[in-house]
Amino acid sequence: MSKKTVLITGCSSGFGKLAAKKFQQEGWNVVATMRSPDKETELTQLDDVLVTRLDVTDKETVAEAVNQGIEKFGAIDVLVNNAGYGGHAYLEQFTEEQIYAMFETNVFGVMRVCRAVLPHMRQQKGGTIINVTSMAGYIGLSLGSTYSASKFAVEGLTEGMALEYKPFNIKVKAVAPGAFGTNFTAANDNNLENGDDELKPYAQKIAAHFAALAEQMQKQGGKDADPQEVADKIYECATTETPVHNVVGADAEILMGMINSMSRQDFINQMGVMLTPQEAN
Ligand SMILES: NC(=O)c1ccc[n+]([C@@H]2O[C@H](COP(=O)([O-])OP(=O)(O)OC[C@H]3O[C@@H](n4cnc5c(N)ncnc54)[C@H](OP(=O)(O)O)[C@@H]3O)[C@@H](O)[C@H]2O)c1
Repeated sequence: MSKKTVLITGCSSGFGKLAAKKFQQEGWNVVATMRSPDKETELTQLDDVLVTRLDVTDKETVAEAVNQGIEKFGAIDVLVNNAGYGGHAYLEQFTEEQIYAMFETNVFGVMRVCRAVLPHMRQQKGGTIINVTSMAGYIGLSLGSTYSASKFAVEGLTEGMALEYKPFNIKVKAVAPGAFGTNFTAANDNNLENGDDELKPYAQKIAAHFAALAEQMQKQGGKDADPQEVADKIYECATTETPVHNVVGADAEILMGMINSMSRQDFINQMGVMLTPQEAN
């Protein structure tokens, strides 16, 4: 059987880089895309890996990378939409431009890459698309409303596309990680310093509360959780029958257990008690 090809976005670090290495080790051709391929030194050393530029906000680089991949390897069997970033702040603490920028990458970027690859997948009569979302695509959290909105959008996009493209033999799935120690935290567009005298101290209080909670919950996810788990889950979704919605990580499993064991409102109430314990006034 001929080698299969995967195109992955955001391969400069984190889940994207690990997924690129995983597919390569498993004998796949990999189109490992990133915003700054000139800086890449590791993936460029591997056989059957094409490292090329793709900025999900730039339609031309998307088309160029897809064409290069097809030209070199003859097909794109699997697309992994991994590129994305987060940010902590109250909705009012972001500027409008920052909110639009997050959606431009996390939501419109995913749609843009899908739309570039789908005609090709229809032509070859099949394929798989995997969108990396987040547990923030299942639950809303204080300081996370904007990021959650972007990831909820992609969970919805995924579910709709799974039904739309089933008749074309194209599988569409989401992989939602819990917290993992990648560059993600450093890349976050946090804005806790913005806002008026009422909002700013309160937002910072909640952020401190989160940090303490995260420290306590380290075993269930966070900087000690192994991001390889996510790369392996992506590979599993690419190669085996899995559901449309997939979660990965100990914290994600706990949250899903809670979500499935009570009403949505009871869950929101419990989250409120746990995560936003202090009144603003
Ligand atoms: N780590 C977590 O705890 C966690 C949890 C849930 C979900 N996620 C999701 O997992 C995905 C990967 O994140 P990660 O944890 O692996 O973090 P990461 O190490 O920061 O990787 C993010 C990748 O996205 C790339 N990227 C950002 N904007 C881009 C753009 N416009 N075009 C192309 N690439 C772009 C970054 O490239 P540059 O190097 O050029 O910035 C980087 O390669 C994201 O979608 C994130 O929302 C992460």
